[in-house]
This record gives sequence, structure tokens and C-alpha cells, in this order.
Amino acid sequence: MTNNTLSQHIQRFYDENTGFFLTLGHSSEGSIHRAIWAYGVSSRAEALHYIDDKICKLLLDNNYSSEPHIVDLGCGVASSLCYIESQFSVTGLGITLSEKQCKLAEQRIKKQGYSKKLQCIQSDFCKLPKDLQKADLAFSIESFVHAQSAGAFFHQASSLVKPGGLLVICDDFLTDEDLSHDKKAAYWLERFQEGWVINSLLSNEQVNKYATQAGFKKIESQNLTPYLEINRPRDYFISLLVRVLNKFSLKNPYLQMLYGGDALQKCLSKQWINYEFKVWQKLND
Ligand SMILES: C[S@@+](CC[C@H](N)C(=O)[O-])C[C@H]1O[C@@H](n2cnc3c(N)ncnc32)[C@H](O)[C@@H]1O
Repeated sequence: MTNNTLSQHIQRFYDENTGFFLTLGHSSEGSIHRAIWAYGVSSRAEALHYIDDKICKLLLDNNYSSEPHIVDLGCGVASSLCYIESQFSVTGLGITLSEKQCKLAEQRIKKQGYSKKLQCIQSDFCKLPKDLQKADLAFSIESFVHAQSAGAFFHQASSLVKPGGLLVICDDFLTDEDLSHDKKAAYWLERFQEGWVINSLLSNEQVNKYATQAGFKKIESQNLTPYLEINRPRDYFISLLVRVLNKFSLKNPYLQMLYGGDALQKCLSKQWINYEFKVWQKLND
């Protein structure tokens, strides 16, 4: 499949599923990512903004001499950007492949009164427009795994982030890059990739290699898997449904999402995949 066709698949997946994510999913916060029930988290809203809060902390820890500029690579409907803006004064840009998300993001930004500070564009983070303002911090929450090319993602991030600036990725990573030789693991990993249109499912070693080649130094890596919701009653129900429908699920965007989500639950519970929060710093050019 060419990179253009892959982009079209991802765009269609989000154009068609964003309404479901925001209504049938578990997010009243506009977040299209998982809730993190870490120690001290006491409400769903806090769990959904856990990663956003970690990004706020990174911004706070850096003594910027002027308002920092941040870029959300794969911004959904700009929920993270709006939340961060509510906690810490920034200027920000959101990038999404989905036209539908881009419109919803602009509406959210306007509704929250941030039109002068935040903006969203429909673009590909593997092929960014040339004239973008350099970022003090760029982040990617559950979007890196979609990258048609991990090398292109890091190359673009490297051009975007200022020397000394930060790149944050919170996403799923393989616990072992040789899992493809394990028949059972390979079966479930493939279902996850098919269902959620995943193109860059990498191990820690692989992702660090791309980051280093693009001029980034590793700062932090935290495994958040223990704080995810796995094997809830609704997950058993979905699992049953998906196993009955099997590949037929792939014909419908909502069922396709359930098919991928079910496989992901299996991969997380078997520890074939970990959900990790990672931070790199851009070295001087
Ligand atoms: C699971 S959603 C996460 C959205 C958002 N980060 C959040 O946490 O609410 C994945 C996002 O990645 C975006 N995405 C995937 N591949 C992309 C690409 N190549 N360029 C830009 N955005 C991309 C999708 O459009 C979608 O907004």
C-alpha cells in the first residue's frame, strides 16, 4: 500500500469514527485516548487528562522566557490543546489527517475562547507544511502508531522542534521486536494493526533508534500499562461480539474499531504491548 493510500485509510477511519468516539466512547472530555487510573487519580476527567497534565508539568519545569509554542501531532478534536491552554498559557497548533476532526477542533477552540492562541490544520505529520512556527514542545498521544513511516515522523519532528525542545510520545510499543515469531502473539498483533490502522508498532529499541538518528536524546520513559482499564465487563461483551463477527467486523468502521480494540486488550493483557509515555530532547543542530 502506498503512503497516500495509508493516509486515506487513516483519514476515513477518523472521519467516520470520531462521532462514535465522542458519543459512544468513554470520553466526555473530547479526548480520543485512554483513561489512566494512576495513583491519586480520582475521577474519569482526571484519568482522561492524566497525560495532558504530564505535558503541563514538562512545560512548568522549563523556565521559558516567553510563552511556549506547542504542537499536537495527531490532535483529534484539540481536547489536549484546549486543556493545556486552560492550565498553562501557550500558543498551539493541532494537526490531524481528518477533515471532520479539524472542523470539530476549530469549533472546540472557538467555544473555549482560545481562537487567538490555538489553531488546527488538516495535514500529515509525516509531511508537514514547510513554514510552521518552531515548537518548544511537540507531542503525539496515540497517533504515532498510525505513522506511515516512523522515520518520516521523527524527521519532521526534528525539523519542527527547537534545539533543546521536547518531543513527547504516549502510545503502544512492542515489548519485544521478535514477537512476530510467536504465532499466537503475531495473530493478535496483526488483528490490532488491521483494526486500528496501525503502521508503526515498534519496540523501545526501534523507536529510540529512530529518535537518535533524528537528533533526539531520551529523557524519560514510563510504562503506564498497569493504570489502563483492561478486562472490564464491556470488554468481555465486545470480545464476544467481535469473535462471532470476526473479519466481517472490518467492513464497518465502528465494528473495525471494536475489532482492533479487542485485539489490543489481548496484547496488553499478555504483555506483548506496553502503553508508554516517552520524552526526548532535541539536541543542538
Ligand atoms: C487516537 S486519535 C488521538 C487523538 C488525540 N491525540 C487525543 O488524544 O485525543 C489519533 C489521531 O492521530 C491522527 N493521525 C494519524 N495519523 C496521522 C498523520 N499521518 N498525520 C496527522 N494526524 C494523524 C488522527 O487524525 C487522529 O487525530
